[in-house]
Amino acid sequence: MNTEIDPWGQVNVKNYGQLCKDFGIEKFSKVLPRMQNLPVYMRRGGVFGHKDFELILKAIEERKKFVMMTGLMPSGSFHFGHKLVADQIIYYQKLGAECYIAAADLEAHLTRDMPLEKAREIAIEEYLLNYIALGLKPEKVHFYFQTEGKKEYMNLSKFVSKKTTLNEIRSIYGDISPSKIVSALTQVADILHPQLKEYGGPKPVIVPVGADQLPHINFTRDIAARMHGEYNFVPPSATFHILIPGLQGGKMSSSVPESSIFFSDSPKAAEKKIRKYAFSGGQATTEEHRRLGGNPDIDVSFQWLKILFEEDDKKLRTIEEEYRSGKLLSGELKQILIEKVVSFLERHEEEREKARDRIGLFWQN
Ligand code: TRP
Repeated sequence: MNTEIDPWGQVNVKNYGQLCKDFGIEKFSKVLPRMQNLPVYMRRGGVFGHKDFELILKAIEERKKFVMMTGLMPSGSFHFGHKLVADQIIYYQKLGAECYIAAADLEAHLTRDMPLEKAREIAIEEYLLNYIALGLKPEKVHFYFQTEGKKEYMNLSKFVSKKTTLNEIRSIYGDISPSKIVSALTQVADILHPQLKEYGGPKPVIVPVGADQLPHINFTRDIAARMHGEYNFVPPSATFHILIPGLQGGKMSSSVPESSIFFSDSPKAAEKKIRKYAFSGGQATTEEHRRLGGNPDIDVSFQWLKILFEEDDKKLRTIEEEYRSGKLLSGELKQILIEKVVSFLERHEEEREKARDRIGLFWQN
């Protein structure tokens, strides 16, 4: 095993291909041709891997019931890294999936020392509002806080403890504590409970998550298999998305304002951040840049355009070629990104205000 992943620590994946090998993940590019109307980053490698996605494709193609289940960690301000999950939730909802969303207030409290009240406020203000503004239909979502789930779900989070050992938990998670064990078992119940008979019984479930959640997915799938006799759980399917590089090239973090653009940033502030912080793959001087060209592979503005903003493949290719050749300067590349980000934020701000009236619909189910 070359890659270590601590879902509660800093995860910095250097090589997603190697990660796939180490964790037995299939390449998402193989299933791409069978899917339509994908969000741009799903076409461009933003979702790099999957487990058992064929089950979901089959459900979609045969118009059978399937569930989308995922969780949000209410740790801070909503940023473009979080948009990847939101877009996927919305994508599966449009395809007819029954959607389950857990707000991980318990996990935030146990592993990040966050007061429960604060975790709930962040979940609503930062996540749920933005989900609606991005296009989620709240009236059709089963939403719950981990501390407030139904009895069957609460019990499942405890029953699953019988299906593992401390040795297994140590081998998956390394350095572990009682709080982390409770969080992991709660997440197993989050993912499996839509298949309980109270929720309509076994069915395919797709769990879209970031690469950092891999250990939880493998753990859940193993436990699901061990519960087969009692519950007949279908091992949950999952897709894994990359962690989008932060503005400065490192990790995007809610607690580091320079590392990302928050959905609550004003368009002016966003523009400033990009000009000041976006890591450039260009040369030090214009003269050198014209001569040697820039490197889009490490240029954060280009990466953001590719994964988040430039839907048109032809336009993206032109930008890439012109940047590589030196025709397009770093400042010009940043300007292209700024225009996209500013128009997104302006529209989004309006949508978010409209979303406020509809937030209560999350509690309807
Ligand atoms: N642990 C996840 C995170 O840190 C949040 C989460 C809780 C989750 N329950 C889940 C994710 C169920 C997917 C499925 O982001």
